[in-house]
Amino acid sequence: MATAAVPDKISEEYYQISEAILESFPKYRPPLDFFVFKTDIAQLVAYSRKGDRLSNEQVEETRRLCSEGDLFVARSDHPIYSQHIVKQLDLVLVDQNLKEAEVADICLRALDLRLADFLEQPVKALFDFLYSDIQVITEYLWNDMHRMRLFIRRLHRGEYSLQHHCINTFCIGLWLFVESKGEELRRKDFDQAALSLLLHDVGMVKIPSFILSKTTPLKSEEKDKIPPHTLLGYKIMHKLDQSFDTLRQATLEHHERLDGSGYPQHSKDISSFGRLVAVADAFSAMIQTRPYAAAKDCLGAARELTEEKNRFDFAYSSKLLGAFISEAFGRMK
Ligand SMILES: [Fe+2]
Ligand SMILES: [Fe+2]
Repeated sequence: MATAAVPDKISEEYYQISEAILESFPKYRPPLDFFVFKTDIAQLVAYSRKGDRLSNEQVEETRRLCSEGDLFVARSDHPIYSQHIVKQLDLVLVDQNLKEAEVADICLRALDLRLADFLEQPVKALFDFLYSDIQVITEYLWNDMHRMRLFIRRLHRGEYSLQHHCINTFCIGLWLFVESKGEELRRKDFDQAALSLLLHDVGMVKIPSFILSKTTPLKSEEKDKIPPHTLLGYKIMHKLDQSFDTLRQATLEHHERLDGSGYPQHSKDISSFGRLVAVADAFSAMIQTRPYAAAKDCLGAARELTEEKNRFDFAYSSKLLGAFISEAFGRMK
């Protein structure tokens, strides 16, 4: 695409739409306003309004303008745009005009959508959609690991929900994984860790819904129904032909504790990745409101985990605490 010399002030408020994105819109009735850059006056002028019916000639013209880098949309239309792109996530990889914060929003929305569908019905077809979005996100992050900061800034707070808890565990755990691997990090491990973190709790879908939706603390016989979610999660993924090491460790070991006080095995012999997921999972559980506990702030939650050295791996919990103390992700509550 040719790049027009667009003044900075304009690119703050508008962005050049890429050809791939334009192609993905309904061509006769684009869902948002188009603007055209007029080189002679160095200004944008309105071209069409959202929902207008374009003629054949206009459709051709918008294509030409787009290929010349002169077709723009308003950043204030970001919600419409992101709603549209969220179902074709690979487009974020080809669009050079989105800001990184906008891409992070879109990626997390896509994950939310795909994960909700899969947790509702954990079958192959829905797993495939989720899997391909995870591939897009890991590709995006792999190209610049600093982008992970923007994902962590968007952690879900407030009321607990399974999918938000899983997404938070994914963001925190993946950051911990990258930090602890350092130079040894390989792309395949990164991708597998991402999938494993996101699906560590998939077995929860097999737990009776009245237990999950209870707003009062669980009775002890109800609590007994929770531990099997670890093995059930592993079985679900195994059925979908996903049974690599990190996935097995994430599903089976995330509730095990170093002193043997965890479940389901009460094991003290926990894999390194299992210990990492345990920290990411416990942290994520603490920052959302549960029937039995109010949400904690990020710094407080990380600090609490470092104080439980006998149960949680201090190498991971201290890394997390260090990041919140130094505001590595920006200032967070
Ligand atoms: Fe769990
Ligand atoms: Fe969890």
